[in-house]
Amino acid sequence: MTDPRGNLRLSTLADEMDVDAIHAYLSAESYWAKGVPREVVARSVQHSLCVGIFDGAAQVAFARAVTDRATFAYLADVYVLEAYRGRGLSRWMMETFDAHPELQGLRRWMLMTKDAHGLYARFGFKPLADASRAMERTRPGLYARPADPPPSRKGVLPTSIPASATSHIPASATSHIPDSATSHIPASATSHPEEAPHQS
Ligand SMILES: CC(C)(COP(=O)(O)OP(=O)(O)OC[C@H]1O[C@@H](n2cnc3c(N)ncnc32)[C@H](O)[C@@H]1OP(=O)(O)O)[C@@H](O)C(=O)NCCC(=O)NCCS
Repeated sequence: MTDPRGNLRLSTLADEMDVDAIHAYLSAESYWAKGVPREVVARSVQHSLCVGIFDGAAQVAFARAVTDRATFAYLADVYVLEAYRGRGLSRWMMETFDAHPELQGLRRWMLMTKDAHGLYARFGFKPLADASRAMERTRPGLYARPADPPPSRKGVLPTSIPASATSHIPASATSHIPDSATSHIPASATSHPEEAPHQS
């Protein structure tokens, strides 16, 4: 497929995505995934329906849909390199998702954005009609924290989670979770929920 506005090429083949280029943008430039490990980016590309735009061999734009390809899709990691912005490339990627045969008839699309609401509004996205029905579970700062795991904290919940947030969970519901399943999670990764960045 060729962009009529330039000599650019769009691809939806996961194997064609340049994981190094995507990782370079997301880990260093994005406001939502700074510090994300390359291996995490590679896995997310592999398991998403991806759109990339290429100038020659160089990937200059990317977006991915996390989807069951039947009912739901979550739009994530949308970016266009600065030198290529304002030329309709994100519109091209959105139109590609809308026309994709495996993304027809979905009941819901979702996304998070800090400041690009106007872009997505052109494609029918609206603020949540009833935010009281939506919930989230986030790990703010996950990629920004030191990788060293803390000492084992068997049976102890991270101190930064207020007791009120967990008091409804019966002890029997968590007592079977082996220490090894949680000891790699730094306590700091669950603290400061107010720092949660808006994600793309
Ligand atoms: C946001 C971003 C993806 C837009 O890409 P782009 O290729 O420059 O956008 P386009 O040229 O395709 O713009 C399409 C339309 O959306 C509008 N638009 C683009 N960015 C917008 C924004 N941030 N807010 C509101 N409208 C925007 C354009 O004015 C254009 O309108 P038109 O159809 O009336 O001409 C790009 O600026 C970017 O990569 N920003 C940094 C990363 C980022 O913020 N990603 C989105 C996270 S949710």
